[in-house]
Amino acid sequence: MKLALGCDHGGFELMQEVKAHLDELGIEYEDFGTYSTESCNYPVFAKAAAEAVASGKCDRGIVICGTGIGISISANKIHGIRCALCSDCFSAEMTRRHNDANMLAMGGRVVGPGLALKIVDAFLNAEFDGGRHETRVKMMMDLENNQ
Ligand code: RB5
Repeated sequence: MKLALGCDHGGFELMQEVKAHLDELGIEYEDFGTYSTESCNYPVFAKAAAEAVASGKCDRGIVICGTGIGISISANKIHGIRCALCSDCFSAEMTRRHNDANMLAMGGRVVGPGLALKIVDAFLNAEFDGGRHETRVKMMMDLENNQ
């Protein structure tokens, strides 16, 4: 599995923790920036990471800003993206199982690194349940496809 990563200055420090964790797990990723704590604009990095997932270049993505809100809203503007903002492990697991989320967003000013890495694990280890959820995910994607 290859992950697309993106963050702004508010998520930069937590992203370094996430990258170290992925390195330990031997999970491949492409880091689309930002690459420092210098103030920047989260839609730029949301777009780059989300397009890598939408195009199939990467399998899933993780994006982080201060709250996780701006970068998740931005990622969800890219067709084909289902980006879930999670601050707990249950939501991270269930958004894979029920929503087939292909991107995880977190807030670097919301969750500490210990919890964040557990959230990452929950997101990466869960698979889509399919079945009745397949219909709902298709209906969800029709909302953007039919616009
Ligand atoms: C940047 O200060 C902050 O607004 C951003 O990281 C994010 O929280 C926006 O949703």
